[in-house]
Amino acid sequence: MTFKIGLLGLGTVGTGTAEILLSPAMRHPLLQEVEIARVGVRSLDKPRSVALPSQIYTTDLDAIVTDPAIDVVVEVMGGIEPARSLILKAIAHGKHIVTANKAVISRHGSEIFDAANAAGVYVMLEAAVAGGIPVIQPLKQSLSVNHIYQVMGIVNGTTNYILTRMQTEGADFDAVLADAQRLGYAEADPSADVDGQDAADKIAILAALAFGGRVKIDEVYCEGIRHISQADIAYADRLGFVIKLLAIARRDSDPSAQSTHDRVDQLQVRVHPTLLPKHHPLANVNDVYNAILVEGDPIGQVMLFGRGAGKGPTASAVVSDIQNIVAILKANGGASTTLHPLFACIHEHYCTVSPIESLVTRFYARFLTRDMPGVIGRIGTCFGNHNVSLESIVQIGFQDGLAEIVLVTHDVREGDFRAALEQIQSYDEVAEIPSVLRVV
Ligand code: NAP
Ligand code: HSE
Repeated sequence: MTFKIGLLGLGTVGTGTAEILLSPAMRHPLLQEVEIARVGVRSLDKPRSVALPSQIYTTDLDAIVTDPAIDVVVEVMGGIEPARSLILKAIAHGKHIVTANKAVISRHGSEIFDAANAAGVYVMLEAAVAGGIPVIQPLKQSLSVNHIYQVMGIVNGTTNYILTRMQTEGADFDAVLADAQRLGYAEADPSADVDGQDAADKIAILAALAFGGRVKIDEVYCEGIRHISQADIAYADRLGFVIKLLAIARRDSDPSAQSTHDRVDQLQVRVHPTLLPKHHPLANVNDVYNAILVEGDPIGQVMLFGRGAGKGPTASAVVSDIQNIVAILKANGGASTTLHPLFACIHEHYCTVSPIESLVTRFYARFLTRDMPGVIGRIGTCFGNHNVSLESIVQIGFQDGLAEIVLVTHDVREGDFRAALEQIQSYDEVAEIPSVLRVV
């Protein structure tokens, strides 16, 4: 039996996918039954590094997704359109889908999965989150017997590379970003990475799987790393922390809950730079590596670590999805009958996402103030008046003739903390509040 693949895109990930499929020896025997039948690209003139017959290339991607001979459409072209329309058209023509496209899934997953479930086809997306790290299938299968409390991860390689170099070399954000672009980690337009949107897309997908309900991407709180300064990295280090861009999805506590097992169907889903204690499992995940820490009952903590991007690792995830679909089809004699509940995404309701103001967390903040008696006392009193309890507040040094004050709070409600900051900002003695970061 041969299963025919229509590949939409032959860039970084498409090329890696073709390389694996064209060298099935020493891999799972199922891959010998997979054939790349058509390849859709933008330019037929571009030199390609994989040995595929020239007649299978086309710029007419519609012809691929409607081709009756194609079993599985592999979308590795990226972007929202025409990727979304092509996926929907492929589904309407009975094709199974494998995609690496977190942006299209996080924004249009609902219509795509509704269409797929109605058509009885699979949409698989292992490569869309954390590149080569198997995290989607584990969440759908082995981990799904647990009551998951939290999924927390470093899911963007570009920002982790930038923060690691700022930490280890004392380099500045702009200089490291330029290097990341030169090395091909960051896109020419790096905004989706450095402003956190790429990580937000990924955590929305992970949250949906871990907690069994869809998540609206515009409800995911998202803050990037452009404002992280060398001063913050150095102060965090002195306080025993590293700064990482974390993507976090967790069940929000019900204040009336008697135990951690007694939770409501309400989530926190957020991306922001975070001070992590140096002993935290994610604190030593460096460079372009990604890791996802899953916590549940009764399994406890599980951490998945590996390369979150790049040709080979991402292609490994794409091909594993192709293989899973082929395995299911083969077991059913070539046809998909009822969707297998451990591979399909069948939930339809939306999770409620808590507003960031209701978050209860610790904060780190840095102030530049006039150096005069009573400033620390006034700041401390204002926090106290807003129900914000301080763990420490110290004057660390001077910058441009201004006193630099750094504080860390106990767990406080974000809305209360922000209200206090607004008032403190209005004090004549306070010149600037250059940084406010959450602490895990
Ligand atoms: P890429 O290198 O830019 O390749 C895109 C491919 O799609 C190219 O072959 C391009 O054709 C083709 N293409 C794009 N738009 C097209 C259009 N409108 N019509 C026809 N062909 C079109 O992208 P990539 O890095 O492989 O990424 C692909 C997807 O994987 C994205 O969704 C990305 O987010 C995801 N992903 C990437 C990585 C990674 O490490 N790169 C990791 C995880 C997930 P030409 O070759 O003719 O230009
Ligand atoms: N731009 C992404 C990153 C690629 O840096 O992690 C993988 O999705």
